[in-house]
Amino acid sequence: MKFRLSRFFSSDIGIDLGTANCLVYVKDQGVVLNEPSVVSISDDGDVKVGTEAKRMLGRCPVNIRAIRPMKAGVIADFEVTEEMLRYFITKAKGFMKPYQRFFRPNVVIAIPSGITEVESRAVQDSAMRAGAGKVTTIPEPMASAIGVGLPVSEPTGSMIVDIGGGTTEVAVLSLAGIVEMRSCRVGGDEMDSSIIQHMKRVYNLLIGERMAEDIKIRIGSAYQVPDLEESMEVKGRDLVSGLPKSIRVSSQEIRTALQEPIASIVDAVRSTLEHCPPELASDLMDRGIMLAGGGAMIRGLDRLISEEINLPVLVADDPLNAVVKGTGWILQNLNSNVRV
Ligand SMILES: Nc1ncnc2c1ncn2[C@@H]1O[C@H](COP(=O)(O)OP(=O)(O)O)[C@@H](O)[C@H]1O
Ligand SMILES: [Mg+2]
Repeated sequence: MKFRLSRFFSSDIGIDLGTANCLVYVKDQGVVLNEPSVVSISDDGDVKVGTEAKRMLGRCPVNIRAIRPMKAGVIADFEVTEEMLRYFITKAKGFMKPYQRFFRPNVVIAIPSGITEVESRAVQDSAMRAGAGKVTTIPEPMASAIGVGLPVSEPTGSMIVDIGGGTTEVAVLSLAGIVEMRSCRVGGDEMDSSIIQHMKRVYNLLIGERMAEDIKIRIGSAYQVPDLEESMEVKGRDLVSGLPKSIRVSSQEIRTALQEPIASIVDAVRSTLEHCPPELASDLMDRGIMLAGGGAMIRGLDRLISEEINLPVLVADDPLNAVVKGTGWILQNLNSNVRV
């Protein structure tokens, strides 16, 4: 029998390789890193990852490119993804005990369920080259469901809707497996694009992605909540005069701008339900469905979905951490033979 010292001395890492944010869990320590999934590369080979790279998005001089390698839920650039994994694995080691750093950590990576078998293998190989020992990938909706505490291994249906930056993952789970699943390429980014389009069409105002995201987070909503109607100042460039300009926009008009991407998310939920076996569908009537991911925080989204599909809808307590917590749970319980 092969005796592996590293099994006893290495520490394990869980990674949520999200389209917008990458989070890392170190066994027995909890979530230690949370940074944007952005990599910037300059012509002279200088690479920056995470928070530092995101600051450059939309503000790069010609000799620097800032890339979101997972943007659409598929891997646009393998080398850049590997660079990102290397950065996170190296940084996570800094949170381990000194003797643990000598060993290659076992890594559990949650990846968007829409990526292909080939891409999944490539992520595993990249993680190994980036310093990992054994690498296990798990579908993001499974990790998310575990992370929010749904009873995924019981013989009862649970539904998770994880709305990330590039994708929305909808899954029905039972007996530790995925029974029905959809991955649609509409998430928070698409909402930002809709806001950009709206500002262009209505005000001839060109705004950047970061401004659009800010508008969505500050005054965006999916359903009218009277006490929360607000307005804010938006800055951009006037497409007619070419000069900087600022205008005020209201929650109500942003809600109109968000209608289309939100309708696509509702459609993904509806179509998953339509293909769900009847026994599990009836479980969902009692237990409702759970929203997670950053997009779940759009105000009134739970209420809108609930009205559209006629089921109770809950929002996870800590939606941005759902997936990474799920990977952490898996790490902490792998030795007790829990099947996921
Ligand atoms: N309070 C908020 N309201 C609405 N959207 C939000 C909020 N906070 C974050 N988001 C959006 O959530 C998305 C990121 O969610 P996340 O779950 O981290 O994505 P991913 O798993 O794809 O990396 C972004 O589009 C971001 O704009
Ligand atoms: Mg995610």
